[in-house]
Amino acid sequence: MTIDTLKTFYSEALHQKLKEFLTIDEVYQLIETPKYSNHGDFAFPCFQLAKLKRQSPQQIAEELASELNDTAFSKVEAVGPYVNVFLNGKLLGPSIVDKVLTLKNDFGSHSFGKDKTIAIDMSSPNIAKPFSMGHLRSTVIGNSLALLANKCGYNTVRINYIGDWGTQFGKLIVAYKKWGEESKVRQNPIGELFKLYTKFHEESENDPNLEGEGRKAFKLLEDGDPEITRLWKWFREESLMAFKKIYKLLGVEFDSYNGEAYYNDKMEEVVEQLKHAHLLETSKGAEVVRLDELNLPPCLIKKSDGATLYATRDLASALDRQNRYKFDQALYVVGQEQGIHFKQVFSVLGKLGYQWSDEMKHIPFGLYLKAGKKMSTRKGRVILLEDVLNEAIKIAQDNIKLKNPDLSFASEVAKAVGAGAVIFHDLKNDRQNDIEFSLEDMLTFEGETGPYIQYTHARAQSLLRKASDVQIKDFHGLDDHESWEIIKLLHQFPQITEKAHNDSSPSVLAKYLLQTAKAFNKYYGKTKILVEDEEKMSRLALVESVTLVLEEGLFLLGISAPKEM
Ligand code: ARG
Repeated sequence: MTIDTLKTFYSEALHQKLKEFLTIDEVYQLIETPKYSNHGDFAFPCFQLAKLKRQSPQQIAEELASELNDTAFSKVEAVGPYVNVFLNGKLLGPSIVDKVLTLKNDFGSHSFGKDKTIAIDMSSPNIAKPFSMGHLRSTVIGNSLALLANKCGYNTVRINYIGDWGTQFGKLIVAYKKWGEESKVRQNPIGELFKLYTKFHEESENDPNLEGEGRKAFKLLEDGDPEITRLWKWFREESLMAFKKIYKLLGVEFDSYNGEAYYNDKMEEVVEQLKHAHLLETSKGAEVVRLDELNLPPCLIKKSDGATLYATRDLASALDRQNRYKFDQALYVVGQEQGIHFKQVFSVLGKLGYQWSDEMKHIPFGLYLKAGKKMSTRKGRVILLEDVLNEAIKIAQDNIKLKNPDLSFASEVAKAVGAGAVIFHDLKNDRQNDIEFSLEDMLTFEGETGPYIQYTHARAQSLLRKASDVQIKDFHGLDDHESWEIIKLLHQFPQITEKAHNDSSPSVLAKYLLQTAKAFNKYYGKTKILVEDEEKMSRLALVESVTLVLEEGLFLLGISAPKEM
């Protein structure tokens, strides 16, 4: 846990008076932050002291308040059983703002991850299927977790574990051979392939032989049949091209695209290891690892026809990743419905004696719902992410045309704002919660949205441009309430990046940025920043530090911050 140095001020002053009763750590732990800042910056509750001293907490608060006099506090008051302090912002502010201005984009960085590597399994869509909203969540959460890990000093490896293997590709190949047309697939690969796959399922309700044909085709694929392999490769390439368009819009890149198929010829090794460790058992013709003692269903390794499974590939890929990257931690950013699967995989690795499996973590997230129901790829409730992104970008473009028709790089800015809207709408929600899908909410550029923060940043940037006569921005302290509220938030940024990383929770950062943008807009609404007086330089220094933190914060969410919009 990072220590809040402002809180330390207060705890040290209190501790001077309370040495016989509480340690400095105890004092620090007890200090609270009042909900409303007009009640003070910090509050110290006196209940525990009251027990120790056998006095009423109110009385103790009164006494303590009268004894605390330090120039670091502009006001100390007893409010019932609490001692509330107002810090002297003019005195404490300069070191905070200086730090931001000196460290610039490095402000909020940590080094505790140095020389350690985190492998992040993220995005991982399935070929020949539309890129779903679930895969959007995995992509943007994973990307932000990678950026946050980098901010804490870690090396990261982003792995897009493409779903390109399994019996469904046998089915798809059968469907294509029966009903497919090459030109149609070329024109609209994902749409057409998905149609074929759906048709296969409809037809197989009346034709019991189809399933068998699908299995046979997959077996041929596993064995490397040239004709079937050629088709599969083609489907895979077309799908990847479509996915890469989306990644480009979202601004996300990967270090590896090794998906499930990559492990086709690497599974025997793990199966051998399981055999060797006497962990494999036969159950109804299939080979499984029993996990009864962990209260988990058996992990299926091989089906009765010898075909390997999703879990088998995840075991093989984990071994390969540990060999290749020597990861200290591995995160799997995957929907919560796969919780049991990952528990099984991690447990089997543990049973094989791999200590590093303790450092593997499933990072689950909730669903996108539509009218309260799960959005499924089967039942026509699909929303295509590419359409959502393009719509968002178009709205951003229209907005720019209206408000700032002469903006240079307008189409670049529109892309940043459109994508920012979609990404922020996802990340502001606690990861585990379901999100009601609403294009409208996602795309409003007011309220608690990405574009609101981007706009606040651009507004601050424009102040800096207008003040180009002030070259050196040096902060000497300001004494209004609104600027101190901003400075306290700036001061929290390093704690926020650490917490967002530790909790694997980009929403911690997203909410912080909303707060900071709001605090800045309040300041901006009240204060004439560019007016010529002796505090102008300090005000501009504050504005500059706000731009730095907003920009860096957005960057850590995977969102860019245009200087003008
Ligand atoms: N392709 C899978 C799906 O869409 C997600 C893969 C997650 N990663 C993994 N290593 N299993 O459901």
